[in-house]
Amino acid sequence: MMLKVSTALVRSSMVALVALMMGACDRSPLTTEESAVVATLALGALPALPSDPSNIYADNKDVAAFGKKLFGDTRLSLNGKVACATCHLPERQFQDDKPLAVAVGTGVRRTMPLAGVAWGPWFFWDGRKDSQWSQALGPLEDQVEHGSDRTTLVFTIATHYRQTYETLFGPLTDLPAVAVAASPVGTIAARRAWDALTPAERTAINRGFANIGKAIAAHGRTLKPEMTRFDRFAASHAQGNSAPDNARFTQQEIAGLKLFLGKGSCTNCHSGPRLTDDHFHNTGMPAVPGLPPDGGRATVLKAIGADPFNCLGAFSDATPDQCGELRFMSQDRHALTRAYKPPSLRRVSSRPPYMHAGQFPTLDAVIAHYASAPRAPAGHSELKPLDLSDQDRQALVAFLKTLEP
Ligand code: HEC
Ligand code: HEC
Repeated sequence: MMLKVSTALVRSSMVALVALMMGACDRSPLTTEESAVVATLALGALPALPSDPSNIYADNKDVAAFGKKLFGDTRLSLNGKVACATCHLPERQFQDDKPLAVAVGTGVRRTMPLAGVAWGPWFFWDGRKDSQWSQALGPLEDQVEHGSDRTTLVFTIATHYRQTYETLFGPLTDLPAVAVAASPVGTIAARRAWDALTPAERTAINRGFANIGKAIAAHGRTLKPEMTRFDRFAASHAQGNSAPDNARFTQQEIAGLKLFLGKGSCTNCHSGPRLTDDHFHNTGMPAVPGLPPDGGRATVLKAIGADPFNCLGAFSDATPDQCGELRFMSQDRHALTRAYKPPSLRRVSSRPPYMHAGQFPTLDAVIAHYASAPRAPAGHSELKPLDLSDQDRQALVAFLKTLEP
């Protein structure tokens, strides 16, 4: 009898112990504060796509379909071989895996991935464009990208897409009588030809050029960030459920996440569901030998204000009060020297190399840079050295790899 009772007792206390241990395993591996930040990084926290008042066609599906065609159309380039999709490969997260972009010539910066960029207010590494449609106009006239000029481009549209264009945007009138290469930027010959056009012709060309950008931007807005393992982890963590297999994190990934949120201070700049704060930071990125000096955001401040295709310009559909980002942007040249936009870290592990000029070939090299926090070649780095063990570094990389589908 006694024996029976004690066996039962032992058995029941063992059950209790096992339950306690399981409870301990089930207990959240993250603190309440960490859990709260994780929720802000998850895809579920992504707000609705912000409207773009400077582009009345931004959310027009027919315009987006036209923009998608233009995005892949090599006839928009000088040599007939370059399209947006030449560098922004759809099957490669809309980038090209190269340290520096290559098209009509070789550029001085790395091609940026495009998923989710429509949520940010500034475009390019230095944010020299304040809308996606105005951004799209840059490569078309850039001598090392499409290498074309706005007048030739509008004629190309008139030749190949007149009907589509006119249905969407209205009649293409007031074009010069003959197709000429003319633009206020670009070669001396193109600038001379531009000066020779009448004001009405210049306005017609600029309007057609802006509409090309607006169409491409409408397509660009459809490129959304994808669901990743991290998002599944975050969702199941928030619900307090025991995670399904495809949402479970290893000890190492949890450790990496904690470093990302804590000691690494990564969320100071990589915040929100795209893991970027959309601001500009000097992180002491090494200059690349052989490239011209690159001053980052500081050197484009004047150009942004003077850009005829900015939010306050004649071809923007916004009212001045809708151009807050432009009107109130920081003009602090000192703080913005060699400052760049943090790219989204979503899917970062599958698209090396890294940084604005492809400075680092691997994530290990990226983490080594954050650990050592070297002096900036110009301006001042915002980073402070981090005391990271080899294990910590591996954990951070393991966490970054969870930002994949
Ligand atoms: C020669 C390769 C190349 C071509 C062609 C090209 N791009 Fe890019 N793209 C780049 C590079 C390089 C950057 C970064 C440039 C910089 O910051 O100075 C970039 C940046 C961008 C960005 C900014 C992303 C962000 O996060 O700010 C967008 C949007 C974009 N390109 C869209 C386009 C569109 C649309 C076209 C076609 C009209 C196009 N690109 C053509 C290489 C290219
Ligand atoms: C002070 C702001 C800041 C902090 C803190 C910061 N980053 Fe960054 N991060 C940036 C900026 C800015 C860039 C782009 C820099 C450039 O190209 O010049 C970047 C780029 C990256 C890239 C490369 C992305 C790409 O597509 O090239 C990775 C990966 C990255 N950061 C991870 C981290 C991790 C991990 C931490 C924490 C250890 C961290 N960052 C902390 C601002 C920051």
